[in-house]
Parts: sequence; structure tokens; C-alpha cells
Amino acid sequence: MIVTIDGPAGAGKSSAARALAQRLGFRFLDTGAMYRAVTYAALKRGEDLEDTRAIARVAREISPELVLTGDSVLLADEDITRAIRTFEITTATRHAADCPEVRSTLVDLQRQLADGLDVVAEGRDQSTVVFPHAECKIFLTASEEVRAERRYLDMVNRGEHVSRDEVLEKQRERDDRDSSRPVGALTKATDAIEFCTDGLEPDEVVERLMEIVADRR
Ligand code: C5P
Repeated sequence: MIVTIDGPAGAGKSSAARALAQRLGFRFLDTGAMYRAVTYAALKRGEDLEDTRAIARVAREISPELVLTGDSVLLADEDITRAIRTFEITTATRHAADCPEVRSTLVDLQRQLADGLDVVAEGRDQSTVVFPHAECKIFLTASEEVRAERRYLDMVNRGEHVSRDEVLEKQRERDDRDSSRPVGALTKATDAIEFCTDGLEPDEVVERLMEIVADRR
């Protein structure tokens, strides 16, 4: 069974999808981590992120070395779980996400990793592009203010120095880009169930997701 969870940045997708996968005993596919890993590797190699050919090459080269265990992200033998969550990487990832060749490489990788397995796949284009035949599609949202506050608290807890305004401004930029990119744009699939997480505790979100999946099984 494939469960897809798409939605804008900060809707609480990652933690909810990870917890859901754990409860169901499914593989968890954090596809945002893949775009972040490409960005991390490109920066480490000193590539110009505006150079689409270079970033596409990095995506092709690192795909076989990328390991997502559910809790951590490994690139070759390096644990990059935390390194890909910095503000710098979050902001710079738009280059990889906007590049159709990178998307094509990562879409192939996502399908390959899901092949023959029960999966919870989380991202922006999972219901529409990567797994259009998924048995259960969820579009997870939250209001702009709630999302920005969650992201801000996340970053402060990780010791990053950012302001609320800065986080909100970058979030708006990402929302615009996510919904307007020519390939893999964030849109709600016509057969997805929309679910707003405003005012809900993380546990309540997971419970609700369990109910939605149970209905589709
Ligand atoms: O979900 P997360 O914030 O980790 O995603 C990082 C970036 O990767 C997002 O801003 C989004 O633009 C991009 N992304 C994407 N397609 C996906 C998952 C993430 O374009 N399936």
C-alpha cells in the first residue's frame, strides 16, 4: 500500500508521516530530505547552484549513495541528518527543487525505493507525480502563521539564530515557488483528502491519519 502525504512547508508533514509509517510498519520516504541532500552535496563540492547541469549531475551521482533509514539520512558514510536541516540548506534547496533533471532523477529513486513495499511517502508531488495510483492520498495543511511558528520553534530548538519575520518571509517565498514551479508543483490531487492541522497536537494528527488510512485499506 502506498500512502502519500503532500502539503506546504511547516504543515507538520515530516513528523506526522514518520510517526504514521512507524505505527503502520511501513517504509518512510522523506523526499524533501533528498532535495536537501543534493543541495548539501553540491555546496560541498563547490558547485554553482544556478548551474542546472552541475546540480543535475550531482543528483545522478549521489542517488546510489543516498540512504534514508527513517530516522537518519546518510550520504555514502556521512550522517547528514542534521546538516541538511540548516536555514542555509533550507533556503538553497529551491535550486535543486526547481531543476527538472534533478526532479526526474529523484522521482526515479523514490519509485525504486518504494518498489514492492508498503510506504508512507511525504513531499510536494507524491500524490500527483510520483505515485498517482497511491491507495491513500492526503493533503496536509495548516495556516501560514501556525506553520511559520512551528518552523521558527524548530530552528530555535536546534540552536539557529533566526527571527520570526525572517522565517515567515522565507516561508512565503517557498510557498510561491512550491506552487508555481513548472515541474512537480505543489497542488492538491483531485482524489486527495485535505486535512488542516491547526490547533492539533502531533499525537492527534497521527491518530487522524491512522483513521484516514484505515478507511482506505
Ligand atoms: O519538506 P522539506 O522542507 O524538507 O523540503 C525541502 C524542499 O524541497 C522544499 O522547499 C520543496 O521545495 C522541495 N521539495 C520538492 N518536492 C518534494 C519534496 C520537497 O520540491 N517531493
